[in-house]
Amino acid sequence: MTDVYLNGQFLPLDEACIPVLDRGFLFGDGVYEVIPAYGRRLFRLHEHLQRLQRSLSEVRIPEPLDETGWAGVLQRLVDRNEGEDQSVYLQVTRGVLPKRDHAFGGQDIHPTVFAMSTPLNPPDPAIAEQGVAAVTLDDIRWQSCHIKAITLLPNVLLRQQAIDAGAAEAILIRQGQATEGAASNLFVVRDGVIETPPKGPLLLPGITRDLVLELATAQGLPAREADIPVERLRDADEVWLTSSTREIVPVTRLDGVPVGDGQPGPVFRRMHRLYQDYKDAVRRGEAD
Ligand code: PDD
Repeated sequence: MTDVYLNGQFLPLDEACIPVLDRGFLFGDGVYEVIPAYGRRLFRLHEHLQRLQRSLSEVRIPEPLDETGWAGVLQRLVDRNEGEDQSVYLQVTRGVLPKRDHAFGGQDIHPTVFAMSTPLNPPDPAIAEQGVAAVTLDDIRWQSCHIKAITLLPNVLLRQQAIDAGAAEAILIRQGQATEGAASNLFVVRDGVIETPPKGPLLLPGITRDLVLELATAQGLPAREADIPVERLRDADEVWLTSSTREIVPVTRLDGVPVGDGQPGPVFRRMHRLYQDYKDAVRRGEAD
């Protein structure tokens, strides 16, 4: 039986209920985080909580807990649930108002806090061996993609469009520039140099993205932030997508055309190894 956390209490999933006037339900008015745990240790927790705090502040939802408070709740959640490796989903909505009104100003409301954790299976090894297909699609989202908002309808439609086309992910294009995936960040490799678009309002500042850059720098692999016009994407030797749940995914076909030689490249294989080593260090308590 899965235990979840809702507004200060741990309880079985099928007993967790929220009022239908919750603004998360009515408006998608809330923010979230997805945080992996390896060997029951929360991965990059400080970075995830800092991003949560920035998302909350951008949408003017008061922070329900401080970092120590969150750490305590989330660790207890992981300890109560199954699996050495887990994926924690944490959502904060603006809360419940007595009637449906777009504006929220000045009213006395309390954020709704919900967290659940599910076992996290390692990615299918075939993905690292063969890569996946991706398609490019127009980025139909808003101008504040740096906020990790629960309002995900465009992302949902874009991911489904990619799946319907036989691909694993949509790579989003805005004004000729590749920004990120529907639920992942984007990297390309050209002549041995790793590149990812700079942070800004048009993409989510991914925690996996930052770790990949950190690992590259620590190992002396050339890496930099740079705009990726769509032509540069099509020309790349390697294309990768990163996220907390999928780690680093090599894209070997883009819009039906092989990327590079159509196989996961040497720089991917190096980074994949570094990432697995980092997860093992987290499991041993030697990294976070
Ligand atoms: N999504 N960009 C978008 C739009 C995302 O939704 C995600 C992650 C990322 C990668 O961020 P991170 O490395 O911090 O996971 C980039 C999560 C996993 C989700 O919505 O389930």
